Amino acid sequence: MSTVEGSKILVTGASGRIGSVVTRRLRAAGAWVTALSIDDSPSLEADRVLVGDTTSQDDVAAALDGVDTVVHLAALAHRDIAPPYDVYATNVVSTFNVLAQAGALGISRAVVAGSINACGLPQNVHEVWPAYVPYDTHLPVDIADWYSLSKHQDESTARMAWRHWGIDVVTLRFPHVNSAEALLAQSRQLTDDPRGGLLEGWSYLTTEDAARAVELSLTAPTTGAHAFFLAADRTLAPYRTEDLLDAFAPQVPRTRRLVGREVPIDLTPARELIGFRAEHEIDVPTLDLPARLRPAVSPHTSPSKEH
Ligand SMILES: NC(=O)c1ccc[n+]([C@@H]2O[C@H](COP(=O)([O-])OP(=O)(O)OC[C@H]3O[C@@H](n4cnc5c(N)ncnc54)[C@H](O)[C@@H]3O)[C@@H](O)[C@H]2O)c1
Repeated sequence: MSTVEGSKILVTGASGRIGSVVTRRLRAAGAWVTALSIDDSPSLEADRVLVGDTTSQDDVAAALDGVDTVVHLAALAHRDIAPPYDVYATNVVSTFNVLAQAGALGISRAVVAGSINACGLPQNVHEVWPAYVPYDTHLPVDIADWYSLSKHQDESTARMAWRHWGIDVVTLRFPHVNSAEALLAQSRQLTDDPRGGLLEGWSYLTTEDAARAVELSLTAPTTGAHAFFLAADRTLAPYRTEDLLDAFAPQVPRTRRLVGREVPIDLTPARELIGFRAEHEIDVPTLDLPARLRPAVSPHTSPSKEH
């Protein structure tokens, strides 16, 4: 028996790529789900379907009526999906509004969709290098876009809400999340252009695994406000991780050896805090990195980090 059985859960962004799978999973586990999205989605199956705006105090108050826990996924989920003001304002006001109201109501727990972009590296417009790999929660941030800034800010909002109201908040720093089919297509792209995946550590998660992480976060015994990375154990690129790092980031210190196609992200907090380990891997064979894909000039000779 799942421990979400019988609980009343608000899912914001329920009509989205991740939200629709989360909603289906939680209902299948016996939860009573209120779905809130800004757009009407007739195919969405939830116990209570609301069309509303997570930046609106009234819409969020109505959605929170009678719920036990919150899954906050609503956001403008990409830097270029709308003008910078709209992306930043929608995301940070929504997260503040949802967590502040949930906290004030005495709701015990919220799970928030964070992002690997909270560290600022993947969408940075400059030539940037991580301070070290594997990425972990102490990695210095280097942010040059409003979407990443919003996801970084959301983590502070979560800590504030826990400090002020005592609401436990789990922020899942998702990597690229998509269907198995879409991820397989991305893997083919990375086969031809592995450099393109460097700053995301070639990481990914299927929507099914993302939804399972949300469910685990709702029921895990952990308390406080936590934000951490999660990803499939192995990368989406078909090449060994150390070969990729040797070719594309030889100057970046490695704090430990990476085995085979091990994702260069520390997954320990996800295991320890919510008991998560990805169950769905995109099955691609491991190949030797071809000489033609290695850079002619090592990046080691020309790092020019701008600020
Ligand atoms: N999919 C990924 O690769 C990925 C990676 C990292 C983080 N995330 C985060 O996960 C969350 C879900 O992402 P997704 O891929 O499902 O995105 P999506 O664009 O498919 O879904 C976003 C949802 O948010 C809703 N929404 C947007 N603005 C809203 C508002 N003002 N009020 C109410 N609802 C609003 C939309 O209606 C939609 O249901 C987002 O917070 C996103 O930033 C996604």
